[in-house]
Amino acid sequence: MVKKAIIPAAGYGTRGLPITKVLPKEMFPIGLKPAIHYVVEEAIESGIEQILMIVSRKKNMIVDYFDESLELEAFLERENKHHLIEIVPVPSVPIHYIRQPYAKGLGDAIRLGKSFIGDEPFAVLLPDDIMISEKEPALKQLINQFNKYGKTIIGIKEVEESKLKNYGVISGKEKGKGLFKLDDMVEKPSKNAPSNYAVIGRYVFTPEILSILDDKQQPAGGELQLTEAIKDLLSEEDCFGKVVDGERFDIGIYEEYLNLVNTIEQARKRKK
Ligand code: G1P
Repeated sequence: MVKKAIIPAAGYGTRGLPITKVLPKEMFPIGLKPAIHYVVEEAIESGIEQILMIVSRKKNMIVDYFDESLELEAFLERENKHHLIEIVPVPSVPIHYIRQPYAKGLGDAIRLGKSFIGDEPFAVLLPDDIMISEKEPALKQLINQFNKYGKTIIGIKEVEESKLKNYGVISGKEKGKGLFKLDDMVEKPSKNAPSNYAVIGRYVFTPEILSILDDKQQPAGGELQLTEAIKDLLSEEDCFGKVVDGERFDIGIYEEYLNLVNTIEQARKRKK
């Protein structure tokens, strides 16, 4: 059973400068909710019972957002605005926080979760990727596959050739519809990408990945990539890529962020 998730939210968000100097990209508004709210909802709707967020010094706003706001609640009570208290977000599952002291990469951020995860399978959701799925939440789709095979499952999607350089790209053989047995992965290929299937920021891992990350040397002055650890994992265990149903928006790309805002707004108008 996959009950725990890690959400790494410690990056600088350089693609979003200058606004990300003061506003974490995870707090970019999509309708009246910040991006990270959608990711936490996806985790909870997928059956996750505990979340660990990896934050950094500049991300206190995220911690505040998911905390109780006693002053605000007292004010709303006093003003008889009870209906508003319900929309103030306090998640139904515990959220724990660890600070990543230096921006040393996604792999380094995930390995900070080792003692939280222990010896269990776990999910990772990257909050730059917002998944809008008509059917099941994206993470739930991966957990269903994990429950079937008991192996690491990585969410993938076919993307345009010109965008492959922004992502981890898989190489593998299709075993069933949209399910690939992986044989390699390349992080942000500048050319000769091994396929058109990019990693979308949703993963279900066996705990082995944490031991691999723990043993890995931090590259001098550089970032420890999660992809490097996944490549090592491939030589120890079978891992799969699963094409996820639903639309994916990478909010680090401004046009995709605007598209997402419009998509959510149109859905809201249709509901009215
Ligand atoms: C990370 C991963 C990459 C993945 C991407 C998904 O890259 O390293 O493999 O495809 O997330 O958004 P980042 O966006 O942190 O540069």
